[in-house]
Amino acid sequence: MATILLAGGAGYIGSHTAVELLDSGYDVIIADNFANSSPEAVRRIEKITGKNVKLYELDIKDADKLAEVFAENKIDAVIHFAGLKAVGESVEKPVMYYRNNIDTTLSLLENMSRFGVKNIIFSSSATVYGEENKVPYTEEMKRGVCTNPYGWTKVMMEQIFEDAAKADKELSVVLLRYFNPIGAHESGMIGEDPQGIPNNLMPYVSQVAVGRRECLTIFGNDYPTHDGTCTRDYIHVVDLAKGHVKAIDYILSHNGVEIFNLGTGTPYSVTEIVDTFEKVNGIKVNHVYGARRAGDLAECYANADKALKVLGWKTEKTLEDMCRDSWNWQKNNPNGYNK
Ligand code: NAD
Ligand code: UFG
Repeated sequence: MATILLAGGAGYIGSHTAVELLDSGYDVIIADNFANSSPEAVRRIEKITGKNVKLYELDIKDADKLAEVFAENKIDAVIHFAGLKAVGESVEKPVMYYRNNIDTTLSLLENMSRFGVKNIIFSSSATVYGEENKVPYTEEMKRGVCTNPYGWTKVMMEQIFEDAAKADKELSVVLLRYFNPIGAHESGMIGEDPQGIPNNLMPYVSQVAVGRRECLTIFGNDYPTHDGTCTRDYIHVVDLAKGHVKAIDYILSHNGVEIFNLGTGTPYSVTEIVDTFEKVNGIKVNHVYGARRAGDLAECYANADKALKVLGWKTEKTLEDMCRDSWNWQKNNPNGYNK
């Protein structure tokens, strides 16, 4: 069976993808510097699957160190999760974001070329649709204008991959544009473990529910949506992880660049998320309505038809599953991986 290198594989999406790949019979190698994750996640991946994961602690930007991973293993495909992802922080520290996110990409592509590895899947984002395109987003829309450096790194990296594939006809690239991953593995053993104050909605909701934070502020209730709060395409992280397995199956037998939206196609509002979380878990989430957050779009959701047609992938989990599994992870691990 093929061996897959997960760059940034100890993180939230990478750890869930590792489980699904191992369960599907793939061998998994993880390379991560734990900038936003913990080695404990890798131990738990092994516990859930009963399989071994080869782990390299390294900075992917360091192309020479990364070369050792390629030299020591026969790698069939790479999945590139290794990036910094906090939108607000990227506005304050743009150079750090460009350096980390773009250099990791270049370092991986250089080593792939040097060692003859021809397949790579990249964690892109719905953010590349920018402000101009109209929902639901389809893959052939032009990349838009982003509101922050994080988003621009994704736009730039998509361009880098397209140029690399133009130059090397044997290269196979899948750009996966994730919508809003939430939820956790049903075991409650792995999940999202943000450092510091969460930027994203679901970790904030769960941390309020568990008593780590006082109160959720809902950013704006005067948007042109059905209840005035922003709508997003929330996707269960296990569905998302399964999309990567489908993309690996696909990439191993195709060349060129393909782009897929990974979302459910169904938008939910912030208020609906909070209400559903409270209902399915029987717990209160203190919240107040506050001002809009700069850069937020009123609506963001996918047309996910292409992934169904080409990859045979569609989401299976409901919003209730997402809220239940997020809470199951949070209440079993109130302080994340640092018990
Ligand atoms: P995460 O922070 O949990 O995982 C990223 C992993 O990459 C972490 O384990 C981190 O330690 C590692 N990493 C970062 N820089 C590194 C470097 N230089 N060398 C080695 N390891 C490094 O984030 P995630 O939510 O799992 O996201 C994975 C990818 O998906 C990211 O590229 C992110 O931008 C993208 N994405 C995430 C979302 C989301 O909402 N979670 C949405 C769209 C796209
Ligand atoms: N929200 C709140 N209160 C909070 C946090 C979030 O009301 O404390 C709201 C936001 O205003 C937004 C919704 O919840 O309306 C979702 O916000 P997130 O921060 O969870 O997610 P975003 O849609 O803003 O961002 C996500 C990813 C980014 C990616 C972007 C577009 O986190 O990486 O989708 O794809 F760039």
